[in-house]
Amino acid sequence: MTDRRDFLKASLVVAAGVAVGKVPPVLAGTGGLPKGLIYTAEAQGKWAGKAKSHAPVVSIDGSKVTIKTNHPMTEPHFIVRHTLVSDNGEVIGAKTFSATDVKAVSVFELPAGKSARYASSFCNKHDFWVTEIGS
Ligand SMILES: [Fe+2]
Repeated sequence: MTDRRDFLKASLVVAAGVAVGKVPPVLAGTGGLPKGLIYTAEAQGKWAGKAKSHAPVVSIDGSKVTIKTNHPMTEPHFIVRHTLVSDNGEVIGAKTFSATDVKAVSVFELPAGKSARYASSFCNKHDFWVTEIGS
């Protein structure tokens, strides 16, 4: 239960930082939040060495944004969800996966005037990973 509360608290801190236009410190490293909540390629914490298979990879083609997590999709261990968030903290889209999905790939259409800033990928064993787009 504590893990869930910590995760929600961290999500609120990140959302608040995005809403006021600040880059959340956690996205630039490990500062600002307790370790063990959000992982990035730069701050892999206890999951050191797992960024290639967990940090979301983002490609943008015009208004189409594709998020990929290069992670196996098997019943005991898979990517649960992707989320794409704009630079002002608005959720542009999210996709929930199941273990039977072949790949953890999601595609989103950017609304006019919006830009994608953060992509997240949640692994059922290796927690919550964020990639800051354009950094
Ligand atoms: Fe994993």
